[in-house]
Amino acid sequence: MERTFLMIKPDGVQRGLIGEIVARFERKGLQLVAAKFMKVDAALAECHYEEHKGKPFYPPLIDFITSSPVFAMVWQGDNVIALTRALIGKTNAVEAAPGTIRSDYAVHTNFNLIHGSDSPENAAREIGIFFRPEELVDYEQMTQRWI
Ligand code: PPS
Repeated sequence: MERTFLMIKPDGVQRGLIGEIVARFERKGLQLVAAKFMKVDAALAECHYEEHKGKPFYPPLIDFITSSPVFAMVWQGDNVIALTRALIGKTNAVEAAPGTIRSDYAVHTNFNLIHGSDSPENAAREIGIFFRPEELVDYEQMTQRWI
């Protein structure tokens, strides 16, 4: 079962969209594995976005992600990385397909509501920097009690 890291960014939290966004992944049939409402400090932000260091949008991106709390999550399911990125939509809200989260709620690349891992390697890396292994729910061990 594939896992991905998703993070509702400060704009999504401030606009009260946590429930709306989480509901879309639940309705799709994906499984929530972990969630954390938290503030991202500069060190964590720089680690998370290290592949973008040196790009023009890097300084404002770090400023933005550290500005107020985020809602960090791990989800799992078959093809969860591709599925969640399809539900999220393109980086630039103007190019995001109708019905996607960014098309429905965002108007600008700077404030595009949510981050989603783009590969299995990045998902594993991002999950590892935001969550300790014991914070991830192991559904295999609870199948007897899961209705
Ligand atoms: S790239 O260069 O194609 O890999 O970059 P991209 O995937 O489009 O974007 C990487 C992350 O940077 C954010 N981004 C921006 N933030 C602020 N301002 C501007 N102009 C900007 N352009 C891109 C973008 O939302 C991506 O963040 P995450 O959190 O990964 O979605």
